[in-house]
Amino acid sequence: MGSTAKFEIDGKTVELPVLRGTDGPAVVDIRKLYAEADVFTYDPGFMSTASCESKITFIDGDAGILLHRGYPIMELAEQSSFLEVCYLLLHGELPTAPQFEEFEHNITYHTMIHEQFDRFFMGFRRDAHPMAIMTGAVGALSAFYHDSTNVNDPAQRMISAHRMIAKMPTIAARAFKYSRGQPFVFPRNELSYAENFLRMCFSVPAEDWVPNPVLTKAMDRIFILHADHEQNASTSTVRLAGSSGANPFACIAAGIASLWGPKHGGANEECLNMLMEIGTVDKIPEFVQGVKDRRYLLMGFGHRVYKNYDPRATVMQKTCHEVLAEVGAGNDPILQVAIELEKVALSDPYFVERKLYPNVDFYSGITLRALGFPPEMFTVLFALARTVGWIAQWKEMIEDPSQKIGRPRQIYTGAPARSFVSVDKR
Ligand code: CMC
Repeated sequence: MGSTAKFEIDGKTVELPVLRGTDGPAVVDIRKLYAEADVFTYDPGFMSTASCESKITFIDGDAGILLHRGYPIMELAEQSSFLEVCYLLLHGELPTAPQFEEFEHNITYHTMIHEQFDRFFMGFRRDAHPMAIMTGAVGALSAFYHDSTNVNDPAQRMISAHRMIAKMPTIAARAFKYSRGQPFVFPRNELSYAENFLRMCFSVPAEDWVPNPVLTKAMDRIFILHADHEQNASTSTVRLAGSSGANPFACIAAGIASLWGPKHGGANEECLNMLMEIGTVDKIPEFVQGVKDRRYLLMGFGHRVYKNYDPRATVMQKTCHEVLAEVGAGNDPILQVAIELEKVALSDPYFVERKLYPNVDFYSGITLRALGFPPEMFTVLFALARTVGWIAQWKEMIEDPSQKIGRPRQIYTGAPARSFVSVDKR
């Protein structure tokens, strides 16, 4: 018999079941609280609320641990590949060699997009933010693939998943090419996922594009680091949108919209802009004082769940050094600013007391810039990689019989009931 928690209000006691997962804190199941005690709970920002049960990703924020299906992110980043991690997130286990071959084939052969789809890009201004294009274009996928949108059919769910993982690099590269005024580059089936994406971004008709194994590996690793992160804002958005049975492509577009914000995926772009604004190491004390005076945030620092070093930041920092050395930018002054800023913040009581550590975005901007991407593409790359996490979580939600349409309640603080007054009497 499991333990219970007692809740007392107005002389009434309600016993609530306490649930325990594989790891992490115990969870008080309050589903019957309203029916039995006539009260709601209040938790804006979900500070103490688990919104679902999940087997996909586990984070221990105090210890700085991130596991996907039980495997540490460090091991996946060092030893696996992005497509293998996609399979793991979607199916729950690492693939055997034949399973991986089939999966890779399925993804590779869904990378093209409908010819008519390209017209969407032309509708955007050339200076549109690529995340605006991504939100619109991915939403538009829902108008194309009518044969894979019955969310109650497992086979259709899986085809949608393959389509989104496969087409996201093609769409992201087109958003980039469009902003550059360069012709779109079509996917090539003989290339790996990361290689294919880099080629679609950086190849031009005037010359051949030659893959660089160090940069391709770095791109793949960056995708792994962003693949999933349990119930963050964008994933919760996807789950909430999907809880009504909505079109899966439209749900992912909702996730992209949520990711765009500077407190979430948009932080990588903001972080590089911040480092460039600081510019030189001697400006760091003045900048840090501004953070402590609460004039602005130190972007790439802090996390709702991690109260320790974000394990993704450790891998990202290493990748950053590898990429910069490869492109001959080991002495990049912006990297020097980042290294010194991190050191200063980690020894300053303001950040220490609040347990603010670098997150994945602190070094990702410098790395992506060295790979050749402009800041406005950074969040697009995050969205591309996170697509598999969103779909795996969406699929898990649809397959979970205990899930219902998401419908939070509120504390109403508006006017009490009153009678309408006609305009001549107001
Ligand atoms: N710079 C300065 N102070 C900060 C920062 C920061 N980056 N982050 C949090 N704080 C302070 C905050 O002012 C508050 O201080 P006080 O208690 O004195 O009022 C305290 O730390 C707790 O912060 P919070 O805002 O209550 O924490 P939260 O869990 O609501 O916010 C966060 C988490 C990630 C939104 C926030 O840390 C932040 O805005 N960071 C900068 C943006 C960023 O790098 N985001 C990327 C997150 S990782 C990638 C992803 O998952 O998208």
